[in-house]
Amino acid sequence: VSQAVTEPRIDFIERARAHVDRGLAECIEAADLPDNLRQAVAYAVLGGGKRLRPILTLLSCEAVGGRPEDARSGAVAIELIHCFSLTHDDLPAMDDDDLRRGRPTLHVHAGEAMAILAGDVMVSLAFAEIAGDPRLARRAEAQRRISHELAAATTAMIAGQVYDTLGGFPDSSPPAERLMLTHRNKTGALLRAACRMGGVAGGASEAQLEALSRYGAAIGLMFQVVDDLLDVTQSAEHIGKATGKDEGAGKLTWPLVHGVQESREEITRLRESAMQALSGLGPAADPLRAIGDFMAVRTR
Ligand code: IPE
Ligand code: IPE
Ligand code: MG
Ligand code: MG
Ligand code: MG
Repeated sequence: VSQAVTEPRIDFIERARAHVDRGLAECIEAADLPDNLRQAVAYAVLGGGKRLRPILTLLSCEAVGGRPEDARSGAVAIELIHCFSLTHDDLPAMDDDDLRRGRPTLHVHAGEAMAILAGDVMVSLAFAEIAGDPRLARRAEAQRRISHELAAATTAMIAGQVYDTLGGFPDSSPPAERLMLTHRNKTGALLRAACRMGGVAGGASEAQLEALSRYGAAIGLMFQVVDDLLDVTQSAEHIGKATGKDEGAGKLTWPLVHGVQESREEITRLRESAMQALSGLGPAADPLRAIGDFMAVRTR
């Protein structure tokens, strides 16, 4: 009997998650929003989720010697962008999903117009969080770079969603290339940016930032290969969102293009290259190693 793989109950991850959850709640509380919009944002943002991107931001900051507070606004901001992407990804015009994080999706809960607008405002709240961070006020260059990383990754995520949903690939690119382009953009870019933003917040050297980038790119792609596999191997009840939908929806997925076995091998290779990328970072990067391992074996 195989033991269920759960999220690692390791202290530093729990600490990072609590830090992020506090930051998100404060951000939503402080925002100047009508009550119904605030409730919609709170529903989508505060109702569960693994918080992997903001945890990566905090751990990347600490891996290069920074304090978690230095990366807090970036962590909050990237989770807001991620929640925006999920809210819009689930809309009827997109993946048309009713279940997210084990609950009805926001458009089911509060209506489509509210889900669109709540997603929209998560974007502006994200950038206001970074721009208004008093801890970054004396570090204008870091603040600029963190915003720029997040903006570029958000643009890439949206481009990836277009590839995923509407096509628009370069002419005659074969399926494997289209798949890579889609996954690197729709999912990989934000995960890579999560690591880079943490690195910048923590004052990383260029070599450290390069290591975090390579780690982030590997786990970023790995993450979506795992997500594609979960769609074909897990139940909706277990993962809290619909499964078994990608193929019928005509999605280009790793198991569809490369097969299930090769997808598992790709996950192993990407996990190894993520660990390789961190080889110069020493024990301060152990939490990143642990979360990278978790992301390879997660079942939800
Ligand atoms: C789901 O991301 C969307 C993808 C990019 C595949 P997560 O699996 O990180 O979702 P939450 O935040 O834990 O709900
Ligand atoms: C979503 O990919 C990527 C995003 C940018 C949200 P999926 O459509 O596969 O994500 P899930 O499976 O709905 O979480
Ligand atoms: Mg989608
Ligand atoms: Mg989806
Ligand atoms: Mg999916």
